[in-house]
Amino acid sequence: MALGTYETILVEKENGITWLKFNRPEKRNCMSPQLCYDMVDALTELATDDETQILVLTGEGEAFTAGMDLRLFFRDLDDKPVERARARAADRSWNWYQLSKFPKPTIAMVNGYCFGGGFIPLCACDFAIADEDATFGLSEVNWGILPGGLVSKVVTMTMNYRKSMYYAMTGDPFDGKTAEEIGLVTYSVPGDKLREETIKLAENLMKKAPAVLQMTKETIRNCATMSVDESYEYIMAKQEQLRWRDTENTRERGMQDFLDDKKYRPGLTAVERAK
Ligand code: COA
Repeated sequence: MALGTYETILVEKENGITWLKFNRPEKRNCMSPQLCYDMVDALTELATDDETQILVLTGEGEAFTAGMDLRLFFRDLDDKPVERARARAADRSWNWYQLSKFPKPTIAMVNGYCFGGGFIPLCACDFAIADEDATFGLSEVNWGILPGGLVSKVVTMTMNYRKSMYYAMTGDPFDGKTAEEIGLVTYSVPGDKLREETIKLAENLMKKAPAVLQMTKETIRNCATMSVDESYEYIMAKQEQLRWRDTENTRERGMQDFLDDKKYRPGLTAVERAK
């Protein structure tokens, strides 16, 4: 499939990092039905693409995304139930299920405006790094709808509960620094350092074995909604699964390098990847 030839998104690959970009800058990257269809296709391909070790989701121009496209996703589909059902299915598929279950680490690099429906892919990513001057907002209340799709759910799963209620009910915008303080993003940085800091995090992650990272993210995500007993059983089973999924034998090599060869300290750094 010809990656990078989509109507509404861009796919760029460099040194193990795949930059998946909303590409409707003149519309502040708001999400149309076509953008959802493009994302479904791209994420399906990238999930098994060997060149993609880390996925970074970001936006072209001055916005991350201004949320759902109020014209193309809402008003134009009000009287078209079939098209609306198709668009909703694609929206739901890419922005939560495909992204939150993506088998490799995902980073949302928030370069500007992030409103409404944009919170779903933001929260679906494993990490989020924001320009400290980016503008976030749960603006739905300003035009008479609820934080829909999964927005109401994912914000309370991700950020401080009191602040979720505050920003959902006031619609007040807030900046990247505030997003960090309330737990919505992992950290915020000055705009001119955004790409550099994102690459730094990606390179740090690429030093670790992919299977170990995948199982770790699945375990953290899934245990969040399990009981303690279920979590215990799940983690044990997952640990067993990792022994045969990790073809780099990180566990055995790590123990040997630490216990026998005294080559490194696992408390402070990762064992070298297998060649
Ligand atoms: N849906 C549809 N169109 C949108 C849009 C959205 N969510 N966000 C921006 N656009 C369009 C504008 O209508 C405008 O289109 P035009 O050039 O045909 O007039 C274009 O994108 C540029 O937007 P504009 O408002 O002129 O840019 P700005 O830089 O002055 O402001 C925002 C940017 C993001 C603050 C402003 O566009 C906005 O408030 N958008 C809505 C955000 C929102 O509430 N999203 C929640 C949806 S769930």
